[in-house]
Amino acid sequence: MLVLDGKIAAASVKELLKKETTDLAAKGKPSPHLAAILIGNNGASETYVASKVKNCEEIGFRSTLIRFPDDIAEQELLQTVDSLNKNKDIDGILVQLPLPKHISEQKLIEAIDPTKDVDGFHPSSVGKLVQGLPTFIPATPYGIILLLEHYDIPTKGKHAVVIGRSNIVGRPMSILLSSNMAKGNCTVTICHSHTPNLSEIAATADILVAALGKPEFVTADMVKPGAVVIDVGITRVNDDTAKKGFRIKGDVNYAEAATKAGAITPVPGGVGLMTIAGLLKNTMQAYLNNRG
Ligand code: GUN
Repeated sequence: MLVLDGKIAAASVKELLKKETTDLAAKGKPSPHLAAILIGNNGASETYVASKVKNCEEIGFRSTLIRFPDDIAEQELLQTVDSLNKNKDIDGILVQLPLPKHISEQKLIEAIDPTKDVDGFHPSSVGKLVQGLPTFIPATPYGIILLLEHYDIPTKGKHAVVIGRSNIVGRPMSILLSSNMAKGNCTVTICHSHTPNLSEIAATADILVAALGKPEFVTADMVKPGAVVIDVGITRVNDDTAKKGFRIKGDVNYAEAATKAGAITPVPGGVGLMTIAGLLKNTMQAYLNNRG
């Protein structure tokens, strides 16, 4: 059984990006610059954004973190996005989700200039993804594709089952796996909360992607022997015995699934690290498109 190690795969992506950034500096060019907007003090969002900033630093990218309190007015956020859109020294813009209830996620996503949409959430980016046109692929599905590439996992003609239909992971993942591309050409089934016999369908998957946000949902009976199991879950579960008071749990019961899988991603140390790699690649792409 092969462990699909996100740390190793992400390090190889980051090494290439670092070299590209060094080459830019040698030519006297500025480095790519990511702007991240973080609203409120959601613990998980704080951790993710801090990790994005740290990873930018590691490879020589610049980053600007813009923080707002929970009660920020939507109009002020839209104005901030507008000024980042106009700022020629900013290559990529992301707004960390989820947002407070009084802010329209859709309005904010649509306010981002598609040429700086490194999260790939703008309807223009999603439309291009569906049509197989070059665009920004949402970071988590992109990271999973990079992981499949790193370990050269065959996908052509395989049955992929994606559990979850979110705009951030499940939906774009299903599109990519069915696309005519190197790590695509799968026959894809999407399962969700209204799918009867979900366990039976999952058990027919050659590639099983669990992205529903329910800790340890995927059990041994849902894994076909030899399947490639990709765990996208990162839920904080309270645990008084843990130093931080919680543990990170994936959507897959790792101990059970590992007894049947041919390959599996750990949590932590799997898809989460690849998500950052996907975001960094998008940021470099935005830089090259806009001022390369
Ligand atoms: N919240 C959870 N995942 C993501 C992501 O990939 N991007 C942003 N902006 N917010 C998220």
